[in-house]
Amino acid sequence: MANQAANDTARNVGPVILLGPPGAGKGTQAKQIVDRYGVPQISTGDLLRDHVGRGTELGLEAKAIMARGELVPDELMYGMVATRLREADCQRGFVLDGFPRTAAQAGWLDAFLEKEVFENRAEKNPGKSPEKSERCPPVVIQLLVDYTQLLLRLTGRRSCPTCGRLYNIHFQPPLVDELCDVDESKLVIRNDDREEIISERLAAYEKQTKPVADYYRLQRRLVAVNADRPREEIAAQVFGVIDRHCLDSQGAC
Ligand code: AP5
Repeated sequence: MANQAANDTARNVGPVILLGPPGAGKGTQAKQIVDRYGVPQISTGDLLRDHVGRGTELGLEAKAIMARGELVPDELMYGMVATRLREADCQRGFVLDGFPRTAAQAGWLDAFLEKEVFENRAEKNPGKSPEKSERCPPVVIQLLVDYTQLLLRLTGRRSCPTCGRLYNIHFQPPLVDELCDVDESKLVIRNDDREEIISERLAAYEKQTKPVADYYRLQRRLVAVNADRPREEIAAQVFGVIDRHCLDSQGAC
């Protein structure tokens, strides 16, 4: 068991892409993957909110778009994502939560991985044959959740501004009302978790993000998971998908 845990946090993992509508549990499952495999969570929503909070040029452009529940234009996303994926902690792999979200973003990511991630890994392991030359395609996990459940998850979500821990007043309330269990910070409600904005976000998902699932389905990289279950059950299945993917790629990831 201890050996297994040591293996999981030493080998290359993924990249893992979590796909799913707002409230599907991408952030929740990403955190489980981080804990298990020791690779970083790259949440484009969190990165954008950080830019908004710091008032950067990107943040100023993204703020009103996000407040309306629309997607930030692709061209604004690429630089931000590339910068993050080039950081040293992404070398063993990473879990993408909220990216790609358009078919164009999916194509951009494939090109980025090929040029900047796989070639770098291959250069570092010149002894490996080209077939095993670290070209591990992403494993794409689609979280499927019923619409009514999504609404409950989004309207009930609370998060800790200090440690980022997620709660839900319906499904996972804090021990003390509105306070984080870990550091007792006052929990906050996300700006875009109001019902009228939620419906815009879900509409953007239907129109712009569903084609991303088709993109990966055609490449036989998509694995759908029923995410209308307790989070631990979902996580167990997600780990199984990742471990199988790593086995199938014969040491490339
Ligand atoms: P982003 O922050 O990515 O939001 P989202 O995709 O709408 O997803 P959420 O964070 O709302 O939900 P989640 O699936 O992570 O669920 P969570 O785990 O939190 O994006 C925000 C905005 O940024 C976008 O609208 C857009 O403007 C912009 N943006 C971001 N990426 C972009 C991109 N690539 N391109 C363009 N624009 C982009 O869970 C939700 C709740 O449910 C929590 O309370 C949780 O505790 C609870 N919960 C989770 N799992 C379960 C379970 N199994 N059972 C019961 N409750 C559960």
